[in-house]
Amino acid sequence: MTILTNPLSIRPISDEEVRAALDAAVAQVRRNLPAFTYAAQNHSSVDNFYPAVANDQWTAGFWPGEIWLAYEHTGDKTFRHAAQIQVQSFLHRIENRIATDHHDMGFLYNPTCVAAWKLVGDEDGRKAALLAADQLIERFHPVGGFIQAWGEMGAADNYRYIIDCLLNLPLLYWASRETGDSKYRDIALIHARTTLANSVRPDDSTWHTFYMDPVTGGPVRGVTCQGYRDDSSWARGQAWAIYGMALSWRYEALPEYRESFDRLLAYYLKRLPADLVPYWDLIFTEGDEPRDSSSAAIVACGLLEMADLVGGEEADGWRQLARRMVKSLVDNYAVRDPAISNGQVLHGTYSKKTPFNTCTGEGVDECVAWGDYYYMEALTRLSRNWSSYW
Ligand code: GLY
Repeated sequence: MTILTNPLSIRPISDEEVRAALDAAVAQVRRNLPAFTYAAQNHSSVDNFYPAVANDQWTAGFWPGEIWLAYEHTGDKTFRHAAQIQVQSFLHRIENRIATDHHDMGFLYNPTCVAAWKLVGDEDGRKAALLAADQLIERFHPVGGFIQAWGEMGAADNYRYIIDCLLNLPLLYWASRETGDSKYRDIALIHARTTLANSVRPDDSTWHTFYMDPVTGGPVRGVTCQGYRDDSSWARGQAWAIYGMALSWRYEALPEYRESFDRLLAYYLKRLPADLVPYWDLIFTEGDEPRDSSSAAIVACGLLEMADLVGGEEADGWRQLARRMVKSLVDNYAVRDPAISNGQVLHGTYSKKTPFNTCTGEGVDECVAWGDYYYMEALTRLSRNWSSYW
């Protein structure tokens, strides 16, 4: 297992601190209910405050996920009621295919509808999540063996997948278990294989997006969208890969998932600054570039997931490391005063525009919806024996 160069600079968070941080996060969720019971949160905050928007972004599932986590922490039926209102919105969205022409069905439907089914047996949640799984497999290309991320199916400029999609695969594993039909799982396995074959570079950093050849199905080239430049390693892409491998390993214990987890994690840890929260691209290890706090939360969840699966001494090491990362987030990044933000975690970065990438600049040094959700998931994982939404 990789050891940080200076792992003692931040001590592991204690159980008492976890409880206090989760209480504070749940209080923030409660404060947000009036504004966001019948609305979605924007993907990122604007001057640290999320505007209310329609349920049509790829990120809309994270806020309902926070509500479910708040329900689990408190047992308060107010949260359950609000989360089930969101489930209805998600059922409407998938039945009418509102802004679902992309691959992010897991991000949308796991923390909302799979959670609703698992926690309270919400039949509409199950139905919506299965429809979302059906939508997701429609984006699978047998030529190349991948799920197309964005855009019109088969379009030459979009014949590619992205590393983030590993987090959409649990929806497919869940759908196969739920229906007894292996077609979802089979596609997840092929997509994960294609991702490992192409997206992890020899130095264990990752390409953000990867083009495949529509005729031969062979690999063409990796390019970035949200990273600093093509050959750098976008911090969140590396974080998605780490957590994605842990989740893949939970469903299918293939040795390459475990090995890749170790290698991806080792690269990530080498690029961390002293407070264990990465800059938005791992090309930066010091200086004034913005951080991406959400990557730290995602990696902490990946470490805790893998620790639960593996057990033993190695698991203890990963848990301690996750506790240090979460301690840093709680002490230095979490919102302490609702007057400064309606989010949970400051200093996330959605998309930073550079001369070398293709994204639209937005959500730089802001709260980001998934950062808030995974922060709460990490705290929840540290506070109880949590049954995953993924
Ligand atoms: N999945 C898109 C992002 O992480 O920004």
